[in-house]
Amino acid sequence: MTTKLFKAKFITLEGMDGAGKSTHIPNIISLLQTRGFEVVSTREPGGTAIGERLRELLLHEPMHAETETLLMFAARREHIANVIAPALARGAYVLSDRFTDATYAYQCGAKGVDAAKIQQLEHWVQVGLQPDLTILFDVPVEVSIQRLSNAREPDKFERENAEFFTKIRNAYLQRAKENPARFRIIDANRPLELVKQSVEEIISTL
Ligand code: TYD
Repeated sequence: MTTKLFKAKFITLEGMDGAGKSTHIPNIISLLQTRGFEVVSTREPGGTAIGERLRELLLHEPMHAETETLLMFAARREHIANVIAPALARGAYVLSDRFTDATYAYQCGAKGVDAAKIQQLEHWVQVGLQPDLTILFDVPVEVSIQRLSNAREPDKFERENAEFFTKIRNAYLQRAKENPARFRIIDANRPLELVKQSVEEIISTL
């Protein structure tokens, strides 16, 4: 008899502001829990006490794009050490609302930070750790902007213009193209129920 080796999975959700990814988190958690998995749900920037304090600065204080990149990775180092690695080690699934693809999309794609510098930080901080699955919620830029205009008080990133969001979207799609085994792209410009179905199909393959 063969025993199926269980490997905990690290799942990340990505997309532009307003793409609607966060709406699906409770459903993903419950789908995985129903199958008997422990799920640790977390977010970036944030996920730890220090990370949440850095989040406050990152989302509200103007700063140099490289400072922003370094702080994102400082928060990420803390997040991996205290939340992500211990959870995966004990066999829990980790679901993170954003991770390093967001740094490539926002700080590199939209703000022009050198990708090679981000790669160095990624190697340093992640030591090979990569998500097993990344779900990219993709919407046209106009839709993202429209949804944000109906939302609560915008943060620093959400106040940016269409050109900024176009760069983010293109950078995400490029990341997906470069990492086809890990990425699943969902067309999030559809009624919520259909997006939910797509999410469920992807989670059922895990
Ligand atoms: P977001 O995840 O959209 O949370 P909320 O829905 O509560 O606004 O906000 C996080 C913001 O941080 C988002 O605009 C993207 C940005 N961000 C980066 O610029 N780089 C990163 O590496 C990460 C993780 C996030």
